[in-house]
Amino acid sequence: MAGEEEMIVDPPEKNTTQPKKSGGFELPWVEKYRPILLKDIIGNEETVTRLEIFAKEGNVPNVIIAGPPGTGKTTSILCLARALLGSSFKDAVLELNASNDRGIDVVRNKIKMFAQQKVTLPKGRHKIIILDEADSMTDGAQQALRRTMEIYSKTTRFALACNSSDKIIEPIQSRCAVLRYSRLTDAQVLSRLLTICEKETVSYTDDGLQAIVFTAQGDMRQGLNNLQSTFQGFGHVNSENVFKVCDEPHPLLIKDMLQHCVDGKIDEAYQVMSHLWKLGYAPEDIIGIVFRVCKTFNMAEYLKLEFIKEIGYTHMRIVQGVNTLLQMSALLARLCKISVISKEDSQ
Ligand SMILES: Nc1ncnc2c1ncn2[C@@H]1O[C@H](COP(=O)(O)OP(=O)(O)OP(=O)(O)O)[C@@H](O)[C@H]1O
Ligand SMILES: [Mg+2]
Repeated sequence: MAGEEEMIVDPPEKNTTQPKKSGGFELPWVEKYRPILLKDIIGNEETVTRLEIFAKEGNVPNVIIAGPPGTGKTTSILCLARALLGSSFKDAVLELNASNDRGIDVVRNKIKMFAQQKVTLPKGRHKIIILDEADSMTDGAQQALRRTMEIYSKTTRFALACNSSDKIIEPIQSRCAVLRYSRLTDAQVLSRLLTICEKETVSYTDDGLQAIVFTAQGDMRQGLNNLQSTFQGFGHVNSENVFKVCDEPHPLLIKDMLQHCVDGKIDEAYQVMSHLWKLGYAPEDIIGIVFRVCKTFNMAEYLKLEFIKEIGYTHMRIVQGVNTLLQMSALLARLCKISVISKEDSQ
């Protein structure tokens, strides 16, 4: 009876947990393609190898994984827990993230209760308490965790993920092995994008994927999300569409602008800047992209160093609050001047 009722209330499309190729109910690709096994995690090879060794030997210390967003920290901890506990994963893992209340009371009650619970586990394995986004835990809660970690160390291991390990109080750090993740390289993000494009039969151009890699800046989650939004929004992934979705100044425009500066053509350079300004981009976003484009711009080494120095100064002014078009134009003027002087010197 109940089954019948459910069928009427929930059409099969809504009910299914199977990802679908298209349509409104599709899982976000970041979840659909979240790696299940440690070996599928891309990048940070040394750290992942350490985790694999922990998983194989079953001898896990308390761990903290620290690193920038979207690099696979939560995924790694889940993979590790799965590898260690297999079918007991459900009963033997307590996962708490920033969306849960994690004040002192939770540490005192929920965590302690879970740590005290008896669960049958494979030999030599421990229950695992995952504290995701641990840097958002209050100091008080972290203090309360210190003793708990020790008292239950026979039966329970803690795995913490955070963006910056300095927000974790030192006594907790000293009880854990601290593993660090770094941003993924462009090649690593690209390789994952290619795999997913193939699986989802995405139509793309090379410059489209390059644009996604550029906007992702080593954050795999951002890369996958941008890929999915561009594909579902436009049906085709090229650089034009990517920058529309990501709403960033197009690096090609910035490239043109820098080239004008290298050629000492202030008027042309200014036109690009004022165009970007009129489009409403924030000065901080513009300067960030100018820097990223300049880093890989094909120009004389000496000139590039000088450019980056000036871009840095302008960034500083913007952060201090002087974020006018006049400041941005002054940057262009200085870049043009540097180019002209260096050309005169070389003649
Ligand atoms: N190294 C990686 N290899 C493969 N996929 C990855 C990797 N890093 C991230 N992803 C993809 O991005 C998604 C988000 O990753 P995850 O939740 O592990 O990030 P995180 O490091 O915990 O970030 P945050 O600091 O924001 O919590 C995953 O579901 C996965 O699809
Ligand atoms: Mg996470």
